Amino acid sequence: MSYSPPAGQSGIGHTRWATHGKPTESNAHPHATDNVAVVHNGIIENFRELRAELERNGAEFYSETDTEVVVHLVEFYLKNGYSPQDAVQASLPRLRGAFALAFLFKGHDDLLIGACKGSPLAIGHGNGEVYLGSDALALAPLTDTITYLEDGDWAVLTRATCVIYGTDGSVVPRETSKSDVSSLLADKANYRHFMAKEIHEQPTVVGKTLAHYLDVAAKRVALPVALPFDFNSIERISITACGTASYAGHIAKYWFERLARLSVEIDVASEFRYREAPLRRGDLAIVISQSGETADTLAALRYAKGQGLHTISVVNVPTSTIARESESVLPTLAGAEIGVASTKAFLCQLMVLAVLAIAAGRERGKLSEIDESKLVQELIEMPRLIAAALLVEPQIEKLARYIAAARAALYLGRGTSAPLALEGALKLKEISYIHSEGYAAGELKHGPIALVDEAMPVVVIAPYDGVFEKTISNMQEVAARGGKIILITDAKGASEATVDTLVTIVLPTMVASFTPMVYAIPVQLLAYHTGVVSGADVDQPRNLAKSVTVE
Ligand code: F6R
Repeated sequence: MSYSPPAGQSGIGHTRWATHGKPTESNAHPHATDNVAVVHNGIIENFRELRAELERNGAEFYSETDTEVVVHLVEFYLKNGYSPQDAVQASLPRLRGAFALAFLFKGHDDLLIGACKGSPLAIGHGNGEVYLGSDALALAPLTDTITYLEDGDWAVLTRATCVIYGTDGSVVPRETSKSDVSSLLADKANYRHFMAKEIHEQPTVVGKTLAHYLDVAAKRVALPVALPFDFNSIERISITACGTASYAGHIAKYWFERLARLSVEIDVASEFRYREAPLRRGDLAIVISQSGETADTLAALRYAKGQGLHTISVVNVPTSTIARESESVLPTLAGAEIGVASTKAFLCQLMVLAVLAIAAGRERGKLSEIDESKLVQELIEMPRLIAAALLVEPQIEKLARYIAAARAALYLGRGTSAPLALEGALKLKEISYIHSEGYAAGELKHGPIALVDEAMPVVVIAPYDGVFEKTISNMQEVAARGGKIILITDAKGASEATVDTLVTIVLPTMVASFTPMVYAIPVQLLAYHTGVVSGADVDQPRNLAKSVTVE
C-alpha cells in the first residue's frame, strides 16, 4: 500500500487502547472539530453529562468515545472568543477522570498544548522541535532531553518556547533531565522477538540488580537507600500490584513471612483501595510495577500514602510517576522491557523483594548474620542457575508444539510455586491465547480437577523442597484421571516422582529458598514458544498494552 505523509510541521497521534467504543476508524484518535484536534490517553468519567450539555449547545458527535467531549468542549470556548490557551484552561477543570491530552489548533501551526491528570505526560526537547509523549521510552527515538509534567500540569509549547502551568494557572518550574536513552533505544539483537531477547537477558539483569543491593565481599544486604523507618515498628506489609508484578508480590509474601516473621497482605491494585481494609498508620505499603505508570497501582500508592503508610516502590522505570511519588524507591535494573509480557522485570522484582525480605529479617532479629550470609550466597548463585535453566529451551520448543494444539492448560504448584503457577497460566494465555489456569496444587480437588481429561496438559512446578511430596500426590490425582503431565523439577525430584509424565524438565539443583527465580524460566519459555508456534504476535499480543494507564 502506498502512503504519502500529510504535509505540515506539527502533528498529533495516539494508539488508542479501546475503553469506550470498539476499535473502529471513527473512534480512532485524533478527534477533531472545526478548530481543534485532540489525542487522549485515559478515561473522561463525566463524559455522558458533558456530551449531553454540549449536544444541547449544538455539538454533533460522530464517535462513541469519551474523548470526543474534550474537543467539543474546547471548541465551545473557542467559538465564544477564547484563545486556544484560555479555551484549554477553561476546559480542564470540567474534566473528571484521568487524562493525558495533546491539542493542535487550526491556524496555529506553531502551537501544541498538553495537559495531564492521573496519566503521565512528558515533554521532549529537540533541536528546534518539541514533542509530547507518555514517557521517555516513547520519546527515545527523538530526543533524550525530557521534562516530566506533574499531576495537574498543562503546558503550552512552540518550537522555541515551553511554558508549564499548574492547576491554578500559575507558571510552575519543572526540571529537565537527560534520560538514559542508550538503554531505552532497544533492539532485538539476534533474537526474533523482544520477548526472547528479554528472557535470555535474565542472568545478566538479575546479576546487575543483585549487585546494586549487596555488599558482596561481606555477603550482606546493603540497600542503596536508607529507609525512613525501622522494620521493628512495622506490624504488617500491604503489597499491591497488577498482573505479573502482583505474582512477584505473592511470592515475596512467603519470603517476608518466613524470613522476617512479618505478616503480608496482598491485593491486586484495582481492589485495594475499594475494600476499606483497616490500615495502621506507620505500617508499610510496597507497590510493584515495571512501568511505574500502571493507573491502578499508582492509585493504590496514593491511597496508602493518604492512610499514613510508609511507601516503597519496586519499579523498573526510575523516572516514572510511581517512582516519583513513593517515599522510597527500590529500582529493578532490568533495562527497558519492550515485549508486552513481563519477563525480565518479574525476575528482577523477585530479586529486589528477596533482598528486602532478608534486610527486614535481619533488622527484626529473625535472621542471624550467618543466616543472612547463607541466603545472600544463594542469591549470588542465581544468575548462574538462571543461565543453566535456559538450557532447557530445545526441550521446551518441542513441547510447545504439543501445547499449541491444546484447548486449555492447567498449572499447579505449592508454596512459592503456587503463585508461579498463576504466572505461568497468565503468560500462556496472554501470549498464545490458550485458556490456562493456575492453582495451588492442593486446591485442585475442590473443583478444577473436573476439568482434567486425556486432552488436558497439566504443568506441575515441583522443585524438590519441603512440599514436594504433597505436590506429587496432587500430580498422582491428575495422572489417575488421564491428564498429560509436564513436570518441572530438579534431578532429585525427577528420580523421586514415580508418576508417568509426558515430559519431565530437569532444572539445576539448588537450595529451596528462592526457586521461583529459576523455575520461572521454563514457564516463560513455554509461553513464548507456544505463542510462536500458534502464530501469535508475541511481543504485542492482541488487546494488551505495555503500560496500562487507565483504571
Ligand atoms: C503480564 C504483564 C502484566 C503486567 C501488569 C502490570 O505479562 O506484563 O500483567 O505485569 O500490567 O504492569 P506494571 O508492572 O508495568 O505495573
